Amino acid sequence: VIERTIEFGRPIFGDEERQAVLRVLNQTMLVHGPQTRQFEEAFAKFTGAPLACSVASCTAGLHLALLALDIEEGDEVIVPAQTHTATAHAVEYCRATPRFVDSCPLTGNMDLQQVEDSISERTKAIMLVHYLGVPVDMPALKKIASAHGLPILEDCALAVGTRIGSTHAGLLGDVGCFSFYPVKHMTTAEGGMVITQSKSIADKITKLRSFGLSRTIEKREKAGIYDVEMLGFNYRMNELEAALGIEQLKRVPSFLQKRESNYSDLYHRLNELEEVTLLHEGPAGSTSSRYCLSAIFEGRSEAERDSLAKLLKERGVGTSVYYPKPVPHFTYYKEKYGYDESLFPEASRLSYSSIAFSVGPHLSPEDIEYTASMLKDALTKAS
Ligand SMILES: Cc1ncc(COP(=O)(O)O)c(C=O)c1O
Repeated sequence: VIERTIEFGRPIFGDEERQAVLRVLNQTMLVHGPQTRQFEEAFAKFTGAPLACSVASCTAGLHLALLALDIEEGDEVIVPAQTHTATAHAVEYCRATPRFVDSCPLTGNMDLQQVEDSISERTKAIMLVHYLGVPVDMPALKKIASAHGLPILEDCALAVGTRIGSTHAGLLGDVGCFSFYPVKHMTTAEGGMVITQSKSIADKITKLRSFGLSRTIEKREKAGIYDVEMLGFNYRMNELEAALGIEQLKRVPSFLQKRESNYSDLYHRLNELEEVTLLHEGPAGSTSSRYCLSAIFEGRSEAERDSLAKLLKERGVGTSVYYPKPVPHFTYYKEKYGYDESLFPEASRLSYSSIAFSVGPHLSPEDIEYTASMLKDALTKAS
């Protein structure tokens, strides 16, 4: 009997979001309007960023950030093997080559020794992901990057609320991109934000997200008249999305609190299970955004992991996998670069023998207790 339904991710909207979207619909400005500017200001304030540019998605932001760092054909960019394919795709869009590095077995973040070993004279930037919201050891990575004069681009898709000390993710390196996809910490349906301390990066991203036009609409002296300075894109966020974002961001502090208590509760319950390995925290003084809790079932095959997830699903517990394959194991990358599946063993361990459990703010303490007890049951059945 299913006693509860635990969704892996569920957006939480109230009347505030509904009213905000209706207010936009009741007037005529759907792009280039006050909502996107207000959302950028609010996100800058929340993260402590001097500059924030809204974009159509995190993927769009990653692409623009690489272009703003002058990444071009022939360049190499260091990328974690264990990430969403968007991280590597952004490098491919620039006709540059991703150089994948394996994961650290303890945190799932990229292995910094391998980062250093992968740097060549063609390397032009280091991209990282704060895996599941746990920050990369940035002091150590920055030492490597600055020794080689390389900029750092942070993929912060899972990192709203991730900090080291008081510095928010995205400001630890040179530029950071966030995602507001529905299962994330907050959502605008589709959407993203780029933050940076660099005016030249922000200026270039602002132009590139809007066709490479010389002037934004409000800065045009003559209506409809502009020049095109670069090969830009239509990567803007619209006013409906931004209106949602403004309201969602107000909920983020309470969402993060809920995630922290759900995570700590589930962590203690799963930590007692012999069959489960849990990932470690980030560097000293760091805060994780608690995107989800990933449990590794050591030594189990992918098929065994899948049947555990199926048993959980039958009891109403929805789960996910972050991420389903190391990126170089996906057909596109395997065929293009000839990667063998035996490469990236630590990223493979995460992809093929872990299950990601939700700790989202839509879950109550009873939901967490239910999740843990259903996993115990499933493990007994599967053994
Ligand atoms: C690490 C990472 N980067 C990028 C993305 C892509 O984000 P978006 O859907 O906003 O383009 C995701 C999406 O899940 C992600 O997990």
